[in-house]
Amino acid sequence: MPPVIQTREIADYVGQEVIIRGWVYNRTHKGKLAFLLVRDGYGFVQCVAFKGEIDPELFETIAHIPQESSVLVTGTVRADRRAPGLPGGFEIGITGFEVVQAVVGEYPISLKEHGVDFLADHRHLWIRVPSQWAILRVRSTIISAIREWLDNNGFTLMDTPILTPAACEGTTTLFGTEYFDEGTAYLAQSGQLYNEANIFAFSKVYCFGPTFRAEKSKTRRHLIEFWMVEPEMAFCDLDGLMEIEEQFISHIVQRVLRDCRNELLSLGRDLSVLEQIVAPFPRISYDDALAKLTEIRAETDDPELKERLNIQWGDDFGSPHETELTKLFDKPVFVYGYPTGAKAFYMEPWPGRPDVSKSVDLLAPEGYGEITGGSERISDPDLLLERIREHELPEDAFRWYIDLRHYGSVPHSGFGLGVERTVAWICGIDHIRETIPYPRLINRVYP
Ligand code: 4AD
Ligand code: MG
Repeated sequence: MPPVIQTREIADYVGQEVIIRGWVYNRTHKGKLAFLLVRDGYGFVQCVAFKGEIDPELFETIAHIPQESSVLVTGTVRADRRAPGLPGGFEIGITGFEVVQAVVGEYPISLKEHGVDFLADHRHLWIRVPSQWAILRVRSTIISAIREWLDNNGFTLMDTPILTPAACEGTTTLFGTEYFDEGTAYLAQSGQLYNEANIFAFSKVYCFGPTFRAEKSKTRRHLIEFWMVEPEMAFCDLDGLMEIEEQFISHIVQRVLRDCRNELLSLGRDLSVLEQIVAPFPRISYDDALAKLTEIRAETDDPELKERLNIQWGDDFGSPHETELTKLFDKPVFVYGYPTGAKAFYMEPWPGRPDVSKSVDLLAPEGYGEITGGSERISDPDLLLERIREHELPEDAFRWYIDLRHYGSVPHSGFGLGVERTVAWICGIDHIRETIPYPRLINRVYP
């Protein structure tokens, strides 16, 4: 029996007979030749049957096999520059063919254009399409790179709870659920507060899991359920935080370039843009960024852009502001020192400027915008309590959190990286809904 191989290792089998186990993505038929594009979960390979070389009945089966039927293809690997596939450049000359299950009737996602809603309704099948497959392969590699870097750099994984007693990132995006006799519990918006406890036991930690935001807005950057990795470090200030973030992001991008070249190329991504993503990254203060935006706004002839860039000191940047800022740099850019009022309750004030926080967002280039948000955390328990009251958060639920400031508190910082926004940027795609296997949007919870 020839060996069962994965299409990604096909280059090692030129001249040999192999078996591919997979599904028929596409089929064409030209006189004495039948071409199948077969996918096996690792790539796509062209398989060719030549009438006269195989049993006539088998040829007819191959020439008429319905799209998405599951099959076992036996054949000899040939190098052929013209052959489509992923990786392209190889084809299999079919010597044997077995149908595992023949599709009956028409496969819903035929190989023509379909509308986004139709595809989203068929997400369980849409993920088989090369573009979606490539994006989700990149996602898996990004997650692997995230864990690899953190595990190799002294971080301990801490799994933080998903059912939580209170908000971390503002009360307007909370999902509540009845929790026995304890009142309402909320799906976690972030694991950060728990990680602030964890660093006093483990110094450097991270949590990595799904987080939930009842975002009322429908944008191309927001999901209701998304995955976030949150590193938190003891004895770390804002500068230390930015240094860690730039090393971390550089590692992720370079790892994807190493392991997912074919996937990125198949998505039409310009690799030279990603090759530049190497630390250090530029840094700009909120004040300077606001000045730049004011300049851009003054100089533009586009009345719509003028309107969209309208902003006062104190406002958080929205996506139009971030998009303009990222156009000024080839690499991700750190924007630090946001106004206190625009950010979460837990951020350490800037020394001598209490209206500014020691916060930093990292904006991905090419208009992608915020992929991480982080800060140094408040150390003073009295100030923390004051902020909790200002933000009208339930004091009782934060007793343990304030407690941390009494027992060996140290300067500490952390950030959260949104996996889906990172995938969208690295893959160069427009909408975040394609970056997660089953997206949850304000108007979609199926399939
Ligand atoms: O800026 P955010 O809200 O920060 C936090 O949650 C902090 N507690 C993190 C920390 O310091 N430990 O979220 C962090 C990142 C954003 O930069 C963005 O990439 C992503 O999470 N994010 C979302 N991604 C998709 N859909 C949403 N609704 C998102 N909200 C945030
Ligand atoms: Mg943020």
